[in-house]
Amino acid sequence: MANPSLLILAGDGIGPEVMDEVKKVIGWFGAKRDMAFDVSEDLVGGCAYDAHGTPLTDATMEKAQSVDAVLLGAVGGPKYDDLDFSVKPERGLLRLRKEMDLFANLRPAQCFDALADFSSLKKDIVAGLDIMIIRELTSGVYFGEPRGIFTEGNERVGINTQRYTESEIARVARSAFELARKRGNKVCSMEKANVMESGVLWREVVTKIHAEEYADVELSHMYADNGAMQLVRNPKQFDVIVTDNLFGDLLSDAAAMLTGSLGMLPSASLGLPMANGRPKALYEPVHGSAPDIAGTGKANPIACILSFAMALRYSFDKGDEATRLEEAVNKVLADGLRTADLMGPEGGTPISTTEMGDAIVAALDASL
Ligand code: NAD
Ligand code: IPM
Ligand code: MN
Repeated sequence: MANPSLLILAGDGIGPEVMDEVKKVIGWFGAKRDMAFDVSEDLVGGCAYDAHGTPLTDATMEKAQSVDAVLLGAVGGPKYDDLDFSVKPERGLLRLRKEMDLFANLRPAQCFDALADFSSLKKDIVAGLDIMIIRELTSGVYFGEPRGIFTEGNERVGINTQRYTESEIARVARSAFELARKRGNKVCSMEKANVMESGVLWREVVTKIHAEEYADVELSHMYADNGAMQLVRNPKQFDVIVTDNLFGDLLSDAAAMLTGSLGMLPSASLGLPMANGRPKALYEPVHGSAPDIAGTGKANPIACILSFAMALRYSFDKGDEATRLEEAVNKVLADGLRTADLMGPEGGTPISTTEMGDAIVAALDASL
């Protein structure tokens, strides 16, 4: 049987730096666990714009549609800030999400034991934390029409539209309930039904899907602003959070700090099953291209490496190997190795991006 195929789109800024470490990990699984992948690479974001005048060519889009999974680093950077919206690096990523129909973005926030002291919150608030934010990824205000900057009278007006259909809400709600059944069996749905009609519909549909198909799962609803506060006050009250595209973007960055650093948070963006039964899938860290540290060797590769662990679990049915990789990360952190973003107030000597990748590979070796 052919090896499973991976398309690597490392992107901009620290994207290629952290992806180099993921490639070491992919190589390790090929060499030591008899899990070879057919890996190809291409451009996305600013680097694709530089080469082709577009942040994602049609040819790359077709490749992404045809592989078993896509791994993405990060896109964007100040160099591209003044580009027209249609060719901004971020549009490349949004096109991938939309055309692959990756509606369920799984963003786990897990606090590794060794980092419990390091969160900006008190240790007992985050120790043992394991929550999953499911962000709707293909609709909402990111894609709703009308959008644009228009002239009205003698001034301009910027317009974006929050828009959700019942079926878009229903399918991401099902993803959340399905996942909750494999975890703590609790879902909290977040919107602003108090001020937004799309929130009213969101709550209605989630409630109906729950009653008809998932009554065994505990469901609660929260306004998203309260949700942000509760995430910081007592994050362990949550198991699975399901929310829309924009609220999910904000809430997952906030949740990142519960784990110690944005450089720790992986994600999986999943769509419908393909002919081979695997879901359409793109795996990427939650963080961006970090222009402030790009090229300095300071980037933490763990979010990107843990995104590959999610690929092992959700695309390749290798939950045990995903756990092996997560435990290797845990061991390296427990040994006290830290990239610069994980330096606590007490300081210490940080290791570089490549040293962290090497340490994780060494911990994988030690796991055999
Ligand atoms: P960012 O996530 O790139 O950086 C925010 C802060 O976190 C910075 O101080 C950065 O140094 C730090 N940081 C992020 N990842 C880190 C890592 N792995 N290790 C250590 N420190 C890390 O967000 P930003 O600065 O708001 O955006 C920069 C660019 O990235 C923008 O162009 C934005 O659009 C883009 N972006 C892309 C993605 C993506 O590709 N998925 C996600 C978010 C932002
Ligand atoms: C993320 C990023 C993206 C988003 C940008 C880069 C398009 O912030 O993946 O969280 O807003 O979804
Ligand atoms: Mn974001």
